[in-house]
Amino acid sequence: MRVDIVTIFPDYFGAGAGATGAGPGSGGVSGPGRPSEAFGGVGPLGVSLIGKAGARGDIDFRVHDLRKWATDVHHTVDDTPFGGGPGMVMKPDVWGAALDAVLADAGTPGRLAEAGTPGRLVVPTPSGVPFSQDLAAAYAKESRLIFACGRYEGIDSRVVAEARTRLPVDEVSIGDYVLAGGEVAVAVMLEAICRLLPGVLGNERSAADDSFGGGVGEGGRMRGLLEGPVYTRPRSWRGIEVPSVLLSGDHGVIARWRRDESLRRTAAVRPDLVSRVAADPDGLDARDREVLAEAGFPVGGENMAH
Ligand code: ADE
Repeated sequence: MRVDIVTIFPDYFGAGAGATGAGPGSGGVSGPGRPSEAFGGVGPLGVSLIGKAGARGDIDFRVHDLRKWATDVHHTVDDTPFGGGPGMVMKPDVWGAALDAVLADAGTPGRLAEAGTPGRLVVPTPSGVPFSQDLAAAYAKESRLIFACGRYEGIDSRVVAEARTRLPVDEVSIGDYVLAGGEVAVAVMLEAICRLLPGVLGNERSAADDSFGGGVGEGGRMRGLLEGPVYTRPRSWRGIEVPSVLLSGDHGVIARWRRDESLRRTAAVRPDLVSRVAADPDGLDARDREVLAEAGFPVGGENMAH
C-alpha cells in the first residue's frame, strides 16, 4: 500500500526536511518520498508495527509539506473566510497544486479516473463521517490512500468538490471533538488501517478477536462487540486469581466465556452497540440473549426492549 500525507507539519510524522514536494514549475512531487526506514523510530510512522511495515517496504509512506506549493515569499497557506467569521481557511490554489502533484506522481497525468487505481483521498474533519473498524478494513484494501491534513477552520470546500471529479474522496471524523488539525486523526486512522494489512500484525487472528471484530474479511467472532478482560501470568497477583475457566484447556468453553464477558462489557458501557448487533438477524444466539437478559439488557423475542 502507498500512503501519501499532505500537511503543513511534516515534522509531526517524523518526516521533517525529508518531506517530499516541489514548488510550481519544478514538476510536482520530486521523486520517491523519504524511505520509511528513514523515519528511524521517530513519529507515528516510524515506530512499532507500522514502523516495521514501512521498513520492510510493505507500506510506502510519503509525507509532503503543503507549504512547498505556496507561491508567495511567506509560503502562505491560509486566508480570511468569505462571509466573515473567526479563524482562517486554507487556500484552494495551494491545495489544488499540491493534490495535482501528488496525484500525478501515480504516473498518470490528467484525470485519474482513467488511470486504473487513483486511490482514495481521505480528508480528516470533525464534519466528516465517523471513522470505524469497518472503514479501517475498507481502507486496508485500497492500494493507495492520500490524506489531506487541514488546519485552522478547514480547507476551502471547493478543493474536495473538485477532487471528487477525479477520484473517490471521503471526509472522515475520528470522534465528536475538535482537534487543532488533521495530523493526529491521520495517525489514528493509519494505525487502525495498517495493522489490518497482511503480515503487519503478526498474529492475524488477533484482529478478528479485537473489539469490533475487525478483520479485513468477514469480521471475527467479536463483530460489533467490545473485547472482554484479558489475563497473563502469574495466575495469582496481589490476591486476585485469573478466572479458572481460562486454565481449563477447554477451548469451546473458553470461547463461550469470552463471548459472555464481551456481551456483559458491551451492554455495560456501549448499549448502542448491543442494539446494533441485536438488529442483525445473525447477530445473537440464544445464549447471547440469556447473558444480556441477566445483564439487565433483554433483547429479542417478546422481551424486545431495545
Ligand atoms: N480535525 C479536527 N478535528 C477532527 C476530528 N474530530 N476528526 C478528524 N479530523 C479532525
